[in-house]
Amino acid sequence: MNSCAGAVKDANASNRESRIMLELANKRIVLGLTGGIACYKLAEFVRRAGEHGATIDVVMTPAATQFITPVTMQALSGRPVFIDPWDARVPNNMAHINLTRGADAILIAPASTDFMAKLAHGMADDLLSTLCVARGDCPLLIAPAMNREMWLNPATQRNVALLRQDGVQLLGPAEGEQACGEVGSGRMIEPDQILAELIAFFQPKVLEGQRVLITAGPTSERIDPVRVITNRSSGKTGFAIAQAAREAGAEVILISGPTPLPTPYGVTRIPVESARQMHAAVMQHASSSDVFISVAAVADWHVVNRSDQKLKKTAAGGAPQLEFGPNPDILAEVAALQTGPWCVGFAAETENLVEHAEAKRRRKGVPLLVGNLAQHVMDADITELVLFEDAGRTSLTPQPKLQAARALVREIARRLPKTNNT
Ligand code: CTP
Repeated sequence: MNSCAGAVKDANASNRESRIMLELANKRIVLGLTGGIACYKLAEFVRRAGEHGATIDVVMTPAATQFITPVTMQALSGRPVFIDPWDARVPNNMAHINLTRGADAILIAPASTDFMAKLAHGMADDLLSTLCVARGDCPLLIAPAMNREMWLNPATQRNVALLRQDGVQLLGPAEGEQACGEVGSGRMIEPDQILAELIAFFQPKVLEGQRVLITAGPTSERIDPVRVITNRSSGKTGFAIAQAAREAGAEVILISGPTPLPTPYGVTRIPVESARQMHAAVMQHASSSDVFISVAAVADWHVVNRSDQKLKKTAAGGAPQLEFGPNPDILAEVAALQTGPWCVGFAAETENLVEHAEAKRRRKGVPLLVGNLAQHVMDADITELVLFEDAGRTSLTPQPKLQAARALVREIARRLPKTNNT
């Protein structure tokens, strides 16, 4: 490669690093591949995890090498790949011990039926199974991948139960079309979902066991079948909070207005359009939730005289006269429930943040209201949150939305009533 190409590559790499948050910086992961067609998907996973700063040591069973070559995995991980327990490259010949010492996690993906059986019974007849038995307290995560009948087989299900009992974390499997052409459960979750699960694994589980209900995005009020009134909320903050809450161990329902944002992995999304639809969806889930975080930019009014047919310019004889009716205040209504969830409101203001936010908190009757300046919120990736509560006001460090969301989730977890915060 000439030096010019090298410089371009370096610039691209540093641009990429500045765009991607290094979620796995300083993490060393032992990635074990076992025999399954899904092995090819791990090439993408290794590349993406590397972009997030992870150091990946790949270990393959001999069966895995039938599906993807060690050369591919070595090129992508930038490190030697291990297969043989008698590998002469390891000075003390103890790869099964050395590899997991100091590792932050072992991830087996794809995990075959046979390999899960071996794991469940403590067998150690190849390098990967031996290092799993010798792992000590190194956490073990596995992403099963197999035909649906193999997954449903009672012996496999017994092994799954044993593995869970031993503290092994299962990632998936997913349902869907399988390589064999059948449809059902047993598909490996996708590489980006494995990555999301791995990143989540390292987050503190401050909301374990909590059911968190979140609204996000804009709402959209119809004028006629082709026209709506909406607002500029991107939904990014609410989606980041949903991801952060899920990473913190919560069961998350995200009720979102129209936004093209992808649903964070593991979050249940309920799409709505109008404020009244959002209200109905929230009220259906509010009483069974522990926490309600109301991030949506909810329209205050809907069009009362909306038309069932497209309004015609000529027929209107000038600009149409729209009549507005008030929408329910979702947050205030949930906050007033007798046995409702612990409520967190949001206020995006264009001026006088402190006065408006504190007045809003009292008016809506919520223990915590999070304020930010609207001009800092719309489409921005960095966010600066200010917490308003009885005890006063606290500013959180301005940071990218996902980090800010994680910080907020920790603040919420600290404030949950003890009976609620199990
Ligand atoms: N909210 C809500 N239902 C509404 C309006 C707002 O649940 N109909 C929630 C928002 O999700 C947010 C908080 O109330 O958590 C404050 O929203 P905001 O739009 O800032 O306040 P409004 O009550 O609409 O007051 P104003 O428009 O006068 O600022």
